[in-house]
Amino acid sequence: QKLELQLEMLEKGGYDHFMLKEIYEQPRSVRDCLRGRIYPQQGKVQLGGVKEYVEKLKNVDRIIIVACGTSWHAGLVGEYLIEEYARVPVEVEYASEFRYRNPIITEKDLVIAISQSGETADTMAAIELAKEKGATIFGICNVVGASIPRLSHAGVYTHAGPEIGVASTKAFTAQVTALTLMAFYIAQQRGTITESKLIEYLTELNEIPTLIEKTLKTNDHVQIIADKFKDSTNCLFLGRGSSFPVALEGALKLKEISYIHAEGYPAAEMKHGPIALIDEDMPVVFIATKNSSYEKVISNIQEVRARGGHVIAIVSEGDTVVRDMADYVIEIPQTSEAFVPLLATIPLQLLSYHIAVMRGCNVDQPRNLAKSVTVE
Ligand code: G6P
Repeated sequence: QKLELQLEMLEKGGYDHFMLKEIYEQPRSVRDCLRGRIYPQQGKVQLGGVKEYVEKLKNVDRIIIVACGTSWHAGLVGEYLIEEYARVPVEVEYASEFRYRNPIITEKDLVIAISQSGETADTMAAIELAKEKGATIFGICNVVGASIPRLSHAGVYTHAGPEIGVASTKAFTAQVTALTLMAFYIAQQRGTITESKLIEYLTELNEIPTLIEKTLKTNDHVQIIADKFKDSTNCLFLGRGSSFPVALEGALKLKEISYIHAEGYPAAEMKHGPIALIDEDMPVVFIATKNSSYEKVISNIQEVRARGGHVIAIVSEGDTVVRDMADYVIEIPQTSEAFVPLLATIPLQLLSYHIAVMRGCNVDQPRNLAKSVTVE
């Protein structure tokens, strides 16, 4: 038994939990996902796993993304990126909902299944259904050789490496990275992005692993914030645009491992319900980075403050406006809107991790949850 314990300590690489180890692996896992796929100086993306489908991508008029859990959140970021850069309409579906209605799918559709394990029963059933109807299936998976990649026509591996913690962390950022590549790849094929823009974006994307490393330095500060809010019973996460799925993911992480009730919402929807919940006992986490919806998010922050809610805001480095309004700010490096999810997710992972540890929860194996859900 002692040997087993020592072995586990070794596997955790000096970290107290697999989850923390995996959070800290993200500069590496994102870099591994990018490796050999981007050529910033030439403004080129190469995705060997889908290159036989270039013609399909040029002519596709709809993409359907199917996934469950955290992978579904990655899909929502993907929707934003693919629509923005490749200008193809995207629908993101819970695999379990998609498969049980009578979805309209044709041979013209491209279905992208996202799955860390590649074994999720509902996601598998969804792609089997889409395949029967003649759609082309791409898989975005982490586990090499799993069922979903085998069922797919083509795909992209995320290369995040084995993820042991039940709560998904590095697999999520790798999925978002793969979807970012996919968005730029499709854009490149369809000519919806200029070469000079691609050079610009890919140069920035290449630096994201370094910026993730920088973002991880917020850890000590996040731990102090976690201590202030560890006894909360509810928590709201708000963001707009591609930060909305980041808010959903932040809330999911918190509920999964700390058992605190948490909701993610598009910030503008707050006034249609969640605002009724806001009082002194309600921490609200905002993703308020300097992007297109910055001003709007600021007014949402003011609305929360006016009702006595506590504000924790993820902001761009050097921001002073939100600092004056929020109870706590967590600064992340400035980056283009396209890459904000890859950075803003990190402090939210750390926040839920520290809160869960402080509450004495089993971080790596939360109650009632499984790493891979192979039942329907
Ligand atoms: C389970 C896991 C989640 C995961 C989801 C989908 O609920 O606990 O972390 O996001 O399944 O899994 P997949 O392997 O398909 O990404």
